[in-house]
Amino acid sequence: MSRSAHPAGPRHADVWPEGHYSAPPADLNALDPKVWAQTVTRTGTGEVSVGGIGVAALAEEFGTPAYFVDETDFRARARAWRTAFGHDADVFYAGKAFLSRAIVRWLHEEGLNLDVCSGGELTTALSAGMPADRIAFHGNNKSTDEITQAIESGVGRIVLDSFQEIVRVAHIAQSLGKRQRVQIRVTVGVEAHTHEFIATAHEDQKFGIALADGQAAEAVRRALTLDGLELIGIHSHIGSQIFDMAGFEVAARRVVALLAAVRDEHGVELPEIDLGGGLGIAYTSDDDPREPHEIAKALGEIVTRECEAAKLRTPRISVEPGRAIVGPTAFTLYDVGTIKPLEGLRTYVSVDGGMSDNIRTALYDAEYSVALVSRTSEAEPMLVRVVGKHCESGDIVVKDAFLPSDLAPGDLIAVPATGAYCRSMASNYNHALRPPVVAVRDGEARVIVRRETEEDLLRLDVG
Ligand code: LLP
Repeated sequence: MSRSAHPAGPRHADVWPEGHYSAPPADLNALDPKVWAQTVTRTGTGEVSVGGIGVAALAEEFGTPAYFVDETDFRARARAWRTAFGHDADVFYAGKAFLSRAIVRWLHEEGLNLDVCSGGELTTALSAGMPADRIAFHGNNKSTDEITQAIESGVGRIVLDSFQEIVRVAHIAQSLGKRQRVQIRVTVGVEAHTHEFIATAHEDQKFGIALADGQAAEAVRRALTLDGLELIGIHSHIGSQIFDMAGFEVAARRVVALLAAVRDEHGVELPEIDLGGGLGIAYTSDDDPREPHEIAKALGEIVTRECEAAKLRTPRISVEPGRAIVGPTAFTLYDVGTIKPLEGLRTYVSVDGGMSDNIRTALYDAEYSVALVSRTSEAEPMLVRVVGKHCESGDIVVKDAFLPSDLAPGDLIAVPATGAYCRSMASNYNHALRPPVVAVRDGEARVIVRRETEEDLLRLDVG
């Protein structure tokens, strides 16, 4: 990309170095609504606000780094999924994306169900009042304690992930004198076009039971014979951060084919299918995510068509979006520290957080956007890499982006679309204190997960 095509920052050589960025945006002060939460806007002074509160006041009150979640946006997105899927389908929010008790209450109020994948998530959900029958329990290696907790609390379904687990769950349910509603998770053999670590329906990975070699049909056979289990359906989750609906369509077709085979063999029509989560969101302006109503329509049509062809009653569909609900609703606010221009390369902008609050860039090569939010600037764009304060050169938050060349220590910058898999995957690396999550709505901000303190760290250190 030549310098003549795009305005270059004063600190750069004639040619932009290789990178993930496209051209600098025409207006560095603009906030693309695709990547920013609904109520995020620039006020008259040029400062960015969310839920009617400016970022300087938020930084003053809650410190940095911190995650700010736009409650209005979260509720709107949850409702959009709920409405799109209507009364013949269920939406299970995937708690692994981000879970707290406030989130559970919002979901409950908006009529969503919840997918949990550990005893900790289940405890959080139950403690915030999510009715157990609206909870699905997942995991490829659920412990005996977790299975017992799930069955005793009365979860709506356990999603079985292996032959051993079919027997284990049946046994525990029976010993508790219960019959547990279960689904069987199958791998449909779809190669989802996403990062290898977040693709889950090809056969060479740890989740589910393969459809292709008849294993899934065998799992159904076994589950149907066990008294402790009530088999209600088949589950498929093909991966995460997916934009192309084709993978979901193939998955739906193969799952319906299994339902037909089960009907033919056992005379049983399983009443439910779950097509998982995985819908992508916009992390940068280059991403074009699908709307919930488009997804609901596409999935509904394919399932209906396949069921008609197979002369099956259309099963109740459920989906498990996590990222698509919470991801776009939050941003991480950082204070700018050291700025280091590397001539001919890029400028390294260090912030007061890093891979401990967002591991996704290091782990998945994820792309993010970033903006100066405490003020506007008319300065030339400079190519930056936003890095953290950890002792590791891979500690990158935003690999390549443009910020104004007059950026200075003490400015506030924000990384949008950090609602999913950032706080939930945060760590204490280098004894960093995990940042708080602050919910903002209609001019009010309240902490929903508080910042860790050094006392929290020392409390666990009992040596
Ligand atoms: N259902 C099941 C069974 C899942 O395993 C997952 C995600 C979801 C639903 C929700 O997927 P979503 O709609 O959020 O894409 N840490 C990775 C993502 C791992 C996803 C694991 N399972 C990341 O940061 O991209």
